[in-house]
Amino acid sequence: MEKIVINGGKPLNGEVSISGAKNAVVAIIPATILAQDVCRIENIPNISDVSMMIRILQQLGAGIKMINKNTLEIDTSTINSYMVSHSLTKHLRASYYLLGALLGRYGCARVAMPGGCDFGVRPIDLHIKGFELLGASVSIEENAIIDARSDMLTGSPIYLDQVSVGATINVMLAAVKAKGLTVIENAAKEPHIVDLANFLNSMGADIRGAGTDVIKIRGVDILHGCTYSIIPDQIEAGTYMVAAAATGGRVLVKNVIPKHLESITAKLIESGVHVEEYDDSVLIESTGRPKHCNIKTMPHPGFPTDMQPQISVLLSIADGTSIVSEGVWDNRFRYVEQLIRMGASISVDGKLAVIQGVERLKGAPIKADDLRAGAAMLIAGLCATGTTEIENIIHIDRGYEDVVEKFRLLGADIKRVTVEPISQIANIV
Ligand code: UD1
Repeated sequence: MEKIVINGGKPLNGEVSISGAKNAVVAIIPATILAQDVCRIENIPNISDVSMMIRILQQLGAGIKMINKNTLEIDTSTINSYMVSHSLTKHLRASYYLLGALLGRYGCARVAMPGGCDFGVRPIDLHIKGFELLGASVSIEENAIIDARSDMLTGSPIYLDQVSVGATINVMLAAVKAKGLTVIENAAKEPHIVDLANFLNSMGADIRGAGTDVIKIRGVDILHGCTYSIIPDQIEAGTYMVAAAATGGRVLVKNVIPKHLESITAKLIESGVHVEEYDDSVLIESTGRPKHCNIKTMPHPGFPTDMQPQISVLLSIADGTSIVSEGVWDNRFRYVEQLIRMGASISVDGKLAVIQGVERLKGAPIKADDLRAGAAMLIAGLCATGTTEIENIIHIDRGYEDVVEKFRLLGADIKRVTVEPISQIANIV
């Protein structure tokens, strides 16, 4: 067991390079299943969600070669199974992409219910609706195995009742080799949807409109291997931008697509932070206390829900009162309890948080409730006075490559320490 210890209160200064996008790579690795060939994927972030996805593909029979820290060659021609057990899916939400990919390749998939961050109810009814409209029969068995099968998937118009990243991706995966035309209406528009479409098109797929709310997929018979580089991670970039702002620092965030960061940039500017955009980097400079502002999270291009905990830390030390309204998930303010331990003044009512800014946060022992809550705890520790110890950092490692090293290079006093499990101490005694 490990925890992260931060001696906070120091402005971050320098340059940080952003890794490949977690939410793109966890869709693109399963998508390689559709190629039955070798795909070389570059700019892969070295995070535990990727390790888990690799383990799942290996268990299905794929050959995986690590070319270097951030490049993999995946050979899916050797896959010999279409079943994924709960022991593998329980670790990450994106394991449900195995359903679309295996269904698209074999016409059948048996995948256990996915795990991942707990933001309240996370239904998959729209994924199932999409598969059924493509002609699959889908059942959920008593042991929480989702079974999807079809003799021949056939393209269809599919209207998503709610904008869903996961359902949009899963339908794309299942439809890419189906017979005829699939039209997804009310599709999600996140950057990783576009990245997946670009990857599938590099393999020979015919997908148009990704990044808009209508995606057209004309099924093809064969997909071939390709070489592809993952886009930079929008949320990792946003996390470093907010960390720079909250600590009163000056940081050049490199290897980003500034267009993907517009909603985050807009809110930082509104709270008085200086942001300069270049071709593939953004400079964040902050002096003085941030100003209050209101946030409402929405699907892309709105303000991303996955940045809500991090920006709330900035607002908790802002001058004045801010209102943060969560527009995607039912229960995404659990982390507030940790910030209150650090002296924040926040009251939560359902999907709304009222943040009365305080002058500063004070270091405390806290925990990461989930991945982005964990990122928020890092920012809180970095801008607080005194020492902060963060437990449950396993969540942070799911989505942030070399996070301690990156912050340390920006001048933070931050380290990982190993915590001896109680059972081991008990044995020694
Ligand atoms: C993905 C991201 C997650 C992010 C979320 C919203 C990955 C691996 N995870 O999650 O980090 O917070 O997008 O940007 O990319 N819904 C239904 N029925 C469904 C599916 C979704 O009602 O079948 C609802 C959800 O309850 C939620 C909303 O739609 O209220 C959006 O969920 P969705 O976009 O599907 O999120 P995920 O793909 O799970």
